[in-house]
Amino acid sequence: MRSLGAAAALVVYVFAGLALWQSYAGAVDRAEQKTQALAQVYADFTYRALDAYDQILLDLGGFVDAGMAKPLMHGFMSRKKAYHPHLLNLFVFDADGAIRVGTQDRPADLSDRDYVTVHRDDPDVGRYVGRPAVSRIVPGRRFFAVSRRLNAADGTFAGVLAATVDLKDLSGAFDTLRESAEGQDIAMLLAHHDGTLIVRSPAVDDVIGRSVPILALGGERARTVEAVSPFDGRKRVITVRQVPHYPLVVLASVPSALVLEEWMRTAVPVVAAALALTGALLWLTLHLLRQVRARERLMADVQAAKDQAEKALADLGQAQDAIVRTEKLAALGGLVAGIAHEINTPVGNAVTAASFLAKEVDGLAEAFDGQTLTASGMRSFLESAGESVRLTLSNCERAAELIHGFKQVAVDQTSGERRRFNLAEYVAEVLLSLKPQFKRTPHRVDTYIPDDIELNSYPGAFSQVLTNLMTNSLMHGFDDGRSGVIDLAARVEGDMLEMIYSDNGKGIPVELQSQVFEPFFTTRRGSGGSGLGLNIIHNIVHRTLGGSLTLDSQQGRGVHFTFRFPLHAPAAKGAEDHAP
Ligand SMILES: Nc1ncnc2c1ncn2[C@@H]1O[C@H](COP(=O)(O)OP(=O)(O)OP(=O)(O)O)[C@@H](O)[C@H]1O
Ligand SMILES: [Mg+2]
Repeated sequence: MRSLGAAAALVVYVFAGLALWQSYAGAVDRAEQKTQALAQVYADFTYRALDAYDQILLDLGGFVDAGMAKPLMHGFMSRKKAYHPHLLNLFVFDADGAIRVGTQDRPADLSDRDYVTVHRDDPDVGRYVGRPAVSRIVPGRRFFAVSRRLNAADGTFAGVLAATVDLKDLSGAFDTLRESAEGQDIAMLLAHHDGTLIVRSPAVDDVIGRSVPILALGGERARTVEAVSPFDGRKRVITVRQVPHYPLVVLASVPSALVLEEWMRTAVPVVAAALALTGALLWLTLHLLRQVRARERLMADVQAAKDQAEKALADLGQAQDAIVRTEKLAALGGLVAGIAHEINTPVGNAVTAASFLAKEVDGLAEAFDGQTLTASGMRSFLESAGESVRLTLSNCERAAELIHGFKQVAVDQTSGERRRFNLAEYVAEVLLSLKPQFKRTPHRVDTYIPDDIELNSYPGAFSQVLTNLMTNSLMHGFDDGRSGVIDLAARVEGDMLEMIYSDNGKGIPVELQSQVFEPFFTTRRGSGGSGLGLNIIHNIVHRTLGGSLTLDSQQGRGVHFTFRFPLHAPAAKGAEDHAP
């Protein structure tokens, strides 16, 4: 998340950087275009101004020659000057460099002026623009000259025709141009190719004529560079432009600071936006980070809680397993002890009776061999032998009965035929078979069973359930001698049969209710109870009839069993179910 924020911030900065660079490049571009446009205007203006002066010289040259009378020549020249108020003066120099005719009243010696010497020395110069000079005639005046060579008929040097122009004319025009452009910071100058300054705007008089470094043009007509101005020491964007057909260049410049200022105007919002965006990103990142942390913490908490719950569950499972194992062992132990105990009594009785019989038989044999056997002795033997055999038999029968019961507990209850039968009819048959037991009791059995309930089930198992229940009511519920009532009701619910068996006997205390279904649990040990009845009921209901049962009872309030099983019993199952 943090790296995502950093990446987003980086993207913002890259875009901001690009925007800044773009806007700087744009500002530089605009500055360059401005100086280039100004330089072009200057160059054109200068070219046209100089060409106008040159045209005057060419016109004059058409009709003055070295030999012309001075007054006539003066007349021509004065008229020309009157037409062209920008001109300071017109001069015609003779071959010696002396002024032959001039529109200036008090001519001075100008023979050393460059425009005189250049034409004298070089016949091919053509039109020439002289270096700026200080007037020797009018104090304080600065000027420059535009000149042409006068040739004699044979082509030799005959003199020079020159027009002088006040520098103020040019610089004034420059100033006008400069002011029409934007701002005082724009500077322009006109210079010779050799770097001699002719005019500068804004005017800086004391530098006129001085040499300024001109940036070489090479073959180009114009170029734009950034350089430090020698006049004010400021860095400037400068365009140098050639004045067409003259050995002159025009320079137009704006301070680089202006570029920077313009750039700053666009840069400030960009930087502000970038900072704001970065701030927003930072906030967002922190916010998301906090949320992610909170969620992580929550997840960790949830995980910990889950782990804890799982561990608790596992512990519980283990504990349960342990309990189940213990209970199973305990039940098994109880079962074995119960079987041993139950069988011990009748088998022990049988052994006692049999050994008594054996002793009696030995005694009889002895009397018989010694011929002392009397009739009364024989009678006594027969009595005790008969008693012993009866005891042995009844105890063996009891043992066999018990073993049969154990087998029913242990073996799957698939025994017995399966058939269709009517419930009401079948219950009536079972009650009839139980009649001998109820005959001499005051108890009553009330049945509430609709006639039309048909079952496809195991009648044997069903009768066993009913028999055990009624035997229990007799043996346990009504053992205090009072007259009891047994209710037996049934109804069909969908494809299920619900049957309720209840008595109004002494009931089963709550604390015993979880044990009464266990094998060998009985409150009548030693007096007829072996504790198998309810366990057998439970197994039959669950395994053979495919249903369930609940016991509801309170001490003194009788028992209330509810059975639910399908009208159509399931196919016989294996013996995988267990007694509770
Ligand atoms: N209708 C009842 N009223 C009161 N107590 C009952 C009733 N039915 C069962 N009991 C109690 O439940 C115990 C367990 O009954 P169960 O039928 O399993 O064994 P038993 O009757 O004691 O012996 P067995 O049925 O093997 O002869 C009884 O010993 C008795 O305490
Ligand atoms: Mg019983």
